[in-house]
Amino acid sequence: MSEQKYLNLNNGLQMPILGYGTWMASEEEITVAVSDALKVGYRHIDTAPVYLNEKAIGNVLSKWLSSGKIKRSELFITTKLPPPGADRPDLVEFMLRKSLADLQLDYVDLYLIHTPFTVVVDEKGEFKRYEDGTIIVDPSTDHVALWKEMEGLVAKGLTKSIGISNFTVKQIERIRQSCNIQPAVLQIEYHIYLQQPQLIDYCKSANIAVTAYSPLGSKGVGSLNKMAGVERELPDLLEVPEVKAIAQNHNKSEAQVLLRWIVQKGISVIPKSTNTKRMRENKDIFDFKLSAAEIEQLNNLDANLRIVNFSFFKGVEKHPEFPF
Ligand code: A2P
Repeated sequence: MSEQKYLNLNNGLQMPILGYGTWMASEEEITVAVSDALKVGYRHIDTAPVYLNEKAIGNVLSKWLSSGKIKRSELFITTKLPPPGADRPDLVEFMLRKSLADLQLDYVDLYLIHTPFTVVVDEKGEFKRYEDGTIIVDPSTDHVALWKEMEGLVAKGLTKSIGISNFTVKQIERIRQSCNIQPAVLQIEYHIYLQQPQLIDYCKSANIAVTAYSPLGSKGVGSLNKMAGVERELPDLLEVPEVKAIAQNHNKSEAQVLLRWIVQKGISVIPKSTNTKRMRENKDIFDFKLSAAEIEQLNNLDANLRIVNFSFFKGVEKHPEFPF
């Protein structure tokens, strides 16, 4: 079966359609897991400073690169401008250089503005909060000014591509109206229960590749919510009867069906697993094809249900650029 395993980006570069997600894995877990992911064959790794594991990932990458087991050109590494940097164009290069130092790399393949909203941090870099615990936002965010700095990073060779994450059509369009370098990628929550057809159609027409995060429903969000005192029932995507039936039909797992449905739409996907068996399983999605009827059946499950609504960051919804 001929299969597209890369997405062609609008700057002429290619991004592996399947990547390895690293959100909600401790430094200890991720040290073992990234090494396993590379062994299993993942070459696209997605991280961010707010995941607090770039240093551990950097140590693994450095070992693999210096041993000659892998070449830098074979890897596609994405990281992100954290929300505390997003109000300060003067901090953009500083933030990427810090990520590069932690990742022990000279450049990343893709640098994304992590969120369209911005928070204030204290001297230790921790989110500042009001007495009631809500996060203090910085409303002065200027995406156009930020994007100019992002473009400067490409000119300096610190990143090959630039993009955005969690942005709306209106916010992306504002950047596109004034930019010299078009955003190459939009990274968003995307799965059977949150399909955002207008946003996806817009990206298609604007030639912006889409990466799906939380494709399996990010179960760990439940504990983040609990820690923040947020009571919220979250769905289990692996237990949806339609997904189960299709999985049985193809002799594949529910996770494989959820991931296959995404890549078959030409959308990149970055499932996270710290378990080697499940990592292998998540990668093994290119030897079967969902029928048009099965795709349609899964399309019909859209419920506009957002799992990562940032309710665990109480207060950010007050930011004027809060996207949801
Ligand atoms: P684990 O790391 O123990 O494998 P998402 O990518 O949507 O954020 O989902 C990640 C969650 O899904 C993690 O809890 C991860 O647990 C779990 N997971 C990853 N791959 C699979 C799989 N193939 N089957 C079941 N659960 C999975």
